[in-house]
Amino acid sequence: MQTQVGIIGGGPSGLLLSQLLHLAGISSVMLERRSRAYVLGRIRAGVLEQGFQDLMRRAGAAQRMERDGQVHGGVNIAYQEDRLRIDLEGLTGGKTVMVYGQTEVTRDLYAARDALDGVVIDEAEQVMPHGLEGDRPYLTFVKDGAAERLDCDFVIGCDGFHGVSRSVIPADRLQSFERVYPFGWLGVLSATPPVNEELIYARHDLGFALCSLRGPQLSRYYLQCRADENPDNWSDERFWARLKTQLPAEVAARLVTGPALEKSVAPLRSFVAEPMRWGRLFLAGDAAHIVPPTGAKGLNLAASDIHYLSSALIDWYKRGDSAGLDSYSARALARIWKAERFSWWMTALLHRFPENEGFGNRIQRAEFDYLMSSKAAQTALAENYVGLPY
Ligand code: FAD
Ligand code: DHB
Repeated sequence: MQTQVGIIGGGPSGLLLSQLLHLAGISSVMLERRSRAYVLGRIRAGVLEQGFQDLMRRAGAAQRMERDGQVHGGVNIAYQEDRLRIDLEGLTGGKTVMVYGQTEVTRDLYAARDALDGVVIDEAEQVMPHGLEGDRPYLTFVKDGAAERLDCDFVIGCDGFHGVSRSVIPADRLQSFERVYPFGWLGVLSATPPVNEELIYARHDLGFALCSLRGPQLSRYYLQCRADENPDNWSDERFWARLKTQLPAEVAARLVTGPALEKSVAPLRSFVAEPMRWGRLFLAGDAAHIVPPTGAKGLNLAASDIHYLSSALIDWYKRGDSAGLDSYSARALARIWKAERFSWWMTALLHRFPENEGFGNRIQRAEFDYLMSSKAAQTALAENYVGLPY
């Protein structure tokens, strides 16, 4: 089997890239370890920056997003009983975010790939890249018990944090930076009307809570929990009772509860691998970096990587110009580190840290009070939340 670009991983990064390349006349094959049903069943991020939305439009996959996505011009930060609305639109000269779930994004991108007869090989096992330091790399994998080989010009690692691509880079060619937080997020999806039209990020002495949504009758809530928490330990009653406690009373009073459709725990981590290239292997999205979800940057960073990488590959194929490929890692990392900083800052402001009980708590409160009183501080939050320019 042969193609121009071999892509490992069929999440949002791989899907967006293969679609944008296809539309520019460049062939690709995507190898995904899981089944299509598994990939489409995952519930993850929910907030899209304008840059992400623009890529969906360029990919020809934005029809449902334009119809069902909700434009949000503000976001709320609560601290115990105090609540502050950050006027995203007013503070950023008209920029907004869109609430539209990653599950739907993935569905739309698979539909767009299928409509163009894009080649996606799912349930591809033991995917392994080879020859990355030469100019004829290839991938080996097993499909339905048979060993297969895919020859290509480039290998793109879009296979998430636990994927294979980053692990084949020799240790002396890769530097990693990591912070693991001593807590996770317990997420619940419920067929209930959202407690608020806009998102509420809430800091409480018992821990962080987030009120998000997917639609007029579909809510997504998160609670800070232990990193190794078992979601089965949380009955629906326990979850709702705890959420009510951790929200300002005026919000809690409006909370409509119902059975959880999904309940899962995600650990919190900051991670960056540098550089994002080794020979003919390029990393994109979670394969190269992770942010804690506070600030909703994970999925959006995958999109900016794909923006830089797709135009670099198009320049190479159309004009023989390798400048974009050579500068890809540096350009992507410049934006990634700013989003890492913002996500770390939001996480530090809003969570309960076990080691923080005295001084750290007072600093958090001072940070929030400053945010309440300073338009400059609100503007800094707003411009990062809507997404820094590509
Ligand atoms: P992924 O979506 O991880 O896709 C990688 C794909 O590669 C997967 O389909 C995987 O099956 C496949 N793969 C892995 N290994 C191999 C292999 N060896 N061979 C072939 N295929 C392979 N972000 C937010 O902003 N807000 C959130 O609330 C949020 N919640 C999250 C919850 C969880 C549990 C996780 C893991 C992430 C969450 N994120 C969140 C982050 C966001 O979902 C990711 O940033 C986004 O999915 C990145 O897309 P990606 O395509 O780079 O990676
Ligand atoms: C959602 C997730 C996030 O991490 C976030 O910051 C905002 C919203 C969500 O799943 O809706």
